[in-house]
Amino acid sequence: MHTRTRRTSLSLLSFALALSLAPLAQAADAQAPAGPKALPGSLMVIPAPAKVDRIDGADYTVTAATPVRAQGQAAQRVATQFATLLRDSGGPAVTVSEGRGKDGIRFILDAALRTGAEGYQLRSDARGATVQAATEAGLFYGAATLSQLLTGGSDGKLPALRIDDAPRFSWRGLMLDSARHFQSLDEIKQVLDAMAEQKLNTFHWHLTDDQGWRMEIKRYPKLTGIGSCRIPAGDGGRDPVTGAERPYCGFYTQDQIREVIAYAAARHIQVIPEIDVPGHATAAIAAYPELGTIDTPLKPLSEWGVFPNLFNTEDSTFEFLENVLEEVIALFPATYVHVGGDEAVKDQWEASARVQARMRELGAGDEMEMQSHIIKRLETFLEQHDRRLIGWDEILEGGLPPEATVMSWRGTEGGLKAASEGHDVVMSPVTDMYMDYLQTNSPNEPPGRPAAIPLARVYGFEPVPDALAKDKQHHILGLQANMFTEHTRSYARLQHNLFPRLAAVAETGWSPRERRDYADFLARLPAQLQRYQAMGIAYAQTPFQVELDSHDDRSAGTATLALSTPLGYDIHYSVDGSAVTAQSPRYTAPLQQPLPVALQAATFFNGQALAKAASRFDVTAASLLSRTDEHLAQCPGDGQLLLRLEDDGPAEGERAIFNVDIFNPCWLWKEADVDGIASVRIRAGRIPYYFQLAHDEPNRRFAPKRGAHGEMDILGGQCDGKPLASVKLPAAPGADGFITLEAALPRSLKGSQNLCVRFTGDTRPTMWVLDEMTLLPR
Ligand code: ACM
Repeated sequence: MHTRTRRTSLSLLSFALALSLAPLAQAADAQAPAGPKALPGSLMVIPAPAKVDRIDGADYTVTAATPVRAQGQAAQRVATQFATLLRDSGGPAVTVSEGRGKDGIRFILDAALRTGAEGYQLRSDARGATVQAATEAGLFYGAATLSQLLTGGSDGKLPALRIDDAPRFSWRGLMLDSARHFQSLDEIKQVLDAMAEQKLNTFHWHLTDDQGWRMEIKRYPKLTGIGSCRIPAGDGGRDPVTGAERPYCGFYTQDQIREVIAYAAARHIQVIPEIDVPGHATAAIAAYPELGTIDTPLKPLSEWGVFPNLFNTEDSTFEFLENVLEEVIALFPATYVHVGGDEAVKDQWEASARVQARMRELGAGDEMEMQSHIIKRLETFLEQHDRRLIGWDEILEGGLPPEATVMSWRGTEGGLKAASEGHDVVMSPVTDMYMDYLQTNSPNEPPGRPAAIPLARVYGFEPVPDALAKDKQHHILGLQANMFTEHTRSYARLQHNLFPRLAAVAETGWSPRERRDYADFLARLPAQLQRYQAMGIAYAQTPFQVELDSHDDRSAGTATLALSTPLGYDIHYSVDGSAVTAQSPRYTAPLQQPLPVALQAATFFNGQALAKAASRFDVTAASLLSRTDEHLAQCPGDGQLLLRLEDDGPAEGERAIFNVDIFNPCWLWKEADVDGIASVRIRAGRIPYYFQLAHDEPNRRFAPKRGAHGEMDILGGQCDGKPLASVKLPAAPGADGFITLEAALPRSLKGSQNLCVRFTGDTRPTMWVLDEMTLLPR
């Protein structure tokens, strides 16, 4: 149904599986949408304040003329930030002045207040509003709440109330991967602005990985001189005219890093650097081969996945790491330094006589203990410099110093174990907190990992496991969303992935457990969307768009059109070509429409349109016989690895995106009505196959080819047995990067049948991918 972009180039994309191998438990789909429902007295604020009391009194209306006062430098600073935030969120442009005053808006910093490290009080009545706190951070969060109360559709009207607010957790984080794809300083600053507006306080900056080293280290200039450039796979890495290599490069100078840290600090956000050891180290080893375990020269990688390249275990390498950390510590004032530790496949260490000898020398009984030795050494170094070590949960393997903090990503079990053992823990499980997973099943999602982590799932995540003993619960410092960027080539896509899911993370991090209510959150979200718009944040449209599931009755010339929307907001529609508004008919049940029909539909909340544009579906007798890859299932089998992958061209402009199981490239039209169908037409493209899957490699199940270039097979049943039809594949697709193939179905095929489409042969380093499947009547 979705109109596809015409593809103009060979093969595929730029995506990634990163980190993929661990618990890819397919996150359950969202339950049936509950829909928005405000709790009584709910304020349009995210995260919800801990305690709100409505009091008697008239509303107070804030305009550009409202006086905003503060006394002392710190309170003045916050008042000025408030004025900026209010204006940027769509509110009036107020002016700040020195002093106390009796009316208008007042910011008061008073160390004697018992509001804690980040808490605040907000009081409002008919004469104005007062925000007070014991700390500047608390006052800043009070300013953020007040700004939200005055925007997002409130028209500056402030009800009389008392808010006493403080966060549930001290670690309310977002990790951004600037290694796989790189973001500009302005983009990072906008993300920091958005974090601060929702009271997130920790920016974990993933600066090194196999595909790039992004932080200037003065002592080791080749880290960025060599390590900051990779050649993207496929056409993406070539100039389309000259064929010359087109490297993808980027790093942050130490001055730029200081600028980011200062920008964040002004918004009460700590910046935690991540330097990965002993794996995810290819870019560093490419720059300084003496750091590696094997003799083969390496380059920063253009593939995604998990790689065996580990730092070696020489003292000189430990010294290198300490020298790097010395510069990192000089730059980053935060207490914590993240040292990675994840996905370090130990094959190279196992195969290296030298590493094995070092393990004996150091008394490491196995490779896990060897890794643990490195972590302990770095922990000691950091402690000597008044810093604390944090790492992914793999650092638990082989033993961990008690001072180390664990970031639990392979589910929450690592975090539970670590907290039970007395370690501090940040929860960021891949099943709930990974922003590179798609957020809906819409065909309009950008590339990513298609086990959907919808808003409801993010919102429902509880960082403190039930199984954790009461006296250990204080070890859960909080939660963090992780934004790995293999799939996320552009800032537009980064924003899509982060917003609005980050709002759900913020609420879980801040609001008391008993205050969290998903239906109420959905009722508050539209106000936040208005603020995002005012702030220039391009939040994801897909959760607010309408999806169509259509069924035809071919002989009657009508279709049944079922509409849905991921978050359960009201749908309004039109079938007469008129623009959809909140006054258009409200969708309540499937529509039966004569064909052809041009259906438009959009979601609304209290009259506010939630997506930028209505969804449009042109349904015809022919369109009902066609499905794109997004509307097909994957063929059954073990060990699926479904990805949503982007084409690798054109160099500029939009690229096609395909859903493909990279272990078993096979697409399934479940129970197709094949009565009267003569043949199947397939449009297919070809994309680079650029994944390394370490120990998951044996899960690939490419069907063997029978002819020179392989075949496109149509199979029935469970996608097994003898093909119903088969067509030889050409050596290469056409000039536009696509081929169209037609396969005649047996005349005996009747009724409702599974139709599976697979491409045979191991065509790496490229692969065929299905773009569209059409049933052709006799
Ligand atoms: C991770 O996702 N490998 C931390």
